Amino acid sequence: MRAALPRKWSREFITTLSIESTLERIYRVRLGGLRSFSPYGFRVPDPLSDHEHLGQALRLVLNEAEAYLAAVDSAPVRPPARGVGPSDVMPEQGAGTMAALDELIESARDGATRSTGPRFFHFVMGGTTPAALGADWLTSTLDQVAFNWVSSPFAARVEQISLDWLKSMFGLPAGWSAVTTTGATSANLVGLASARRWWGLKHGVDVDVDGLAGLPAMPVYSSGYLHASAVKALGMLGIGRHTPRLFIRDAAGRLDVAALGRALGALGGAPAVLIATAGDVNSGDFDPIAEMAELAERHGAWLHVDGAFGLFAALSPKTEHCVGGIERAHSVAVDGHKWLNVPYDTGFAFVHDPATHAGAFTAGAAYLGAETLSRPVFGFLGPEMSRRARAIPVWATLRAYGRDGYREMVERHLALAQRVGAQVDESPDLELLSEVHLNVVCFRYRPPGLDEAELDELNRKLGAAVLEDGRIYFGTTEYSGKVAFRPAIVNWRTREQDVDLIVEVTRELGARSMSTAAGGNKKASRA
Ligand SMILES: Cc1ncc(COP(=O)(O)O)c(C=O)c1O
Repeated sequence: MRAALPRKWSREFITTLSIESTLERIYRVRLGGLRSFSPYGFRVPDPLSDHEHLGQALRLVLNEAEAYLAAVDSAPVRPPARGVGPSDVMPEQGAGTMAALDELIESARDGATRSTGPRFFHFVMGGTTPAALGADWLTSTLDQVAFNWVSSPFAARVEQISLDWLKSMFGLPAGWSAVTTTGATSANLVGLASARRWWGLKHGVDVDVDGLAGLPAMPVYSSGYLHASAVKALGMLGIGRHTPRLFIRDAAGRLDVAALGRALGALGGAPAVLIATAGDVNSGDFDPIAEMAELAERHGAWLHVDGAFGLFAALSPKTEHCVGGIERAHSVAVDGHKWLNVPYDTGFAFVHDPATHAGAFTAGAAYLGAETLSRPVFGFLGPEMSRRARAIPVWATLRAYGRDGYREMVERHLALAQRVGAQVDESPDLELLSEVHLNVVCFRYRPPGLDEAELDELNRKLGAAVLEDGRIYFGTTEYSGKVAFRPAIVNWRTREQDVDLIVEVTRELGARSMSTAAGGNKKASRA
């Protein structure tokens, strides 16, 4: 069956394809015997015979990318679902590159959230800057393995430079060890694996060689802001997801510094690991990093900071105080695909002591070569050995926009979050649940006359309605025991007209769900 022509194709592009299809037909006649046509070429028995179609395939994607990205600023975040996804039948005979790509393009049109656009406020998800996207295409084209200098001197040098630039942006000491990861979860894993190694050595055990058997439980202390990904990392490391003790002074989860100090004192000098969160996922608030660093120094503890998005506060004089003391931490995790706006999946781990970091991830095999200080083996600094050269888009976006460009973007987002916070405050049916600390606005719909349980139920339903509506996108959470919304602003494309929809759409859908509920109640009382 012939696939439908993608709607957005330009006349010039179709002309190009027609010329190429004619050439293919000639080619087919010359080869003879190749069986059947796919919509834009003929089927191929193996990839080698597909050599000829490479340019055509790339142009198809380029055209789609241009059309997709031109529309993404105003497109609904979730298109009304119509399609059922691409074929799920494993073909015996391939359909050909063009048919396969076309099927994916058609399917993505209906099924892909416009998460790279300016109105996706769910989770904490950035977009991809033009420089980063171009560089990401280059990354796939070059297909480098960023293991070490032998596998790719280019990828290794680009990663080394990018990590040095990031250290300088975030105010981390130049001598720290660093590695690009797949995100903040894996960066937390790297930081906490380094902490585990340090802690084991304090007990006279190389846990990376001999394991944890026979050792006491590792004390891990944190606040209520501890992110699920750090907990997951502790599970993966065999430390345990239930191990962290949280010292909390209020319903929002803020750190009780005095209680933490007492708990550390009670250890009598035994090593412990503290986890600080720079940028709570619900409110954008910060653990007091400097105070935790002070405690870590006094009691001989390791301080790990999860700064997935909050570390970007370091870029603006308006917020840099939030991450004051970061250089006194022992390990730090940051995301790239959030506020840096590089493509999924990218993050960074920084560790103060290069030997501890390398000791946690080294692997020996004669053919792999050895680590040197000036030429780090990045495959020995994180979980993966074969690694995508994720630093290429990082280098490109930093080179393209520089420190000033990122400061401007961060400050624009800070102002947009304040704008939404003020709009929430001025709306009689909305309630701001937390001060706007950074780029997250935590609020709920609060019409009069409902008790807390009813408000929770209403906000849960409203959260689902926002996602279903699709004009904007954000989810629900629980904050101070209340069901709440927490739109996060991190996308380089986001402007005032985008964030203004947050309050507008919430109130509109909120009022609608109240009138539907009132209609339902009337019917029920009549019945
Ligand atoms: C504070 C914090 N840490 C870690 C993560 C996990 O990041 P990723 O999903 O990139 O692994 C997030 C994600 O939102 C976060 O907000």
